[in-house]
Amino acid sequence: MHETTVLSGSKAEQYEQLLPQARALLAGESDRIANAANLAALVFHALPALNWVGFYFYDGHELVVGPFQGRPACVRIALGRGVCGTAAVTRQTQVVPDVDAFPGHIPCDSASRSELVVPLFRQDALLGVFDLDSPVAARFDEEDRHGLEAIAAIFVGSLAHAAPVPVAPSATEVAR
Ligand code: SME
Repeated sequence: MHETTVLSGSKAEQYEQLLPQARALLAGESDRIANAANLAALVFHALPALNWVGFYFYDGHELVVGPFQGRPACVRIALGRGVCGTAAVTRQTQVVPDVDAFPGHIPCDSASRSELVVPLFRQDALLGVFDLDSPVAARFDEEDRHGLEAIAAIFVGSLAHAAPVPVAPSATEVAR
């Protein structure tokens, strides 16, 4: 079982404690689904006032929902649409203090009042986005942006040495 300690102190101090926990959780593992799932769970339970934490992955055409914690979410988001699609095309973290004031915001959970989305890139390639929603207006500030971009970088770094996906053997090879 992975042990996490309760975060304490200022917001900056809490991220200082959360980052090594995230590194330890992903250490030695490069599977995208496994690491996204564990990271979403870690962040959702560690940080206060969140109602959705998770990943959308780019499938070469649009963003498709990946591992998350929270209520069921919209499955596909076109690039340029909503907060997630905007983060993907601008390549900039989106900090949205009031989701109702964000043009084109896509509501997935009616409880969400504010949102932060970090785009995930490896070199120039779009991998997806890391999305957090809060039921509290203006929940996210510059310290959160800084801390959550660092968490996202740990996730992308964990995939950097992933082995190529092996080609599945054909049925005839398996039968031999
Ligand atoms: N609100 C997001 C959609 C994803 S959910 O918040 C999980 C958006 O506008 O892109």
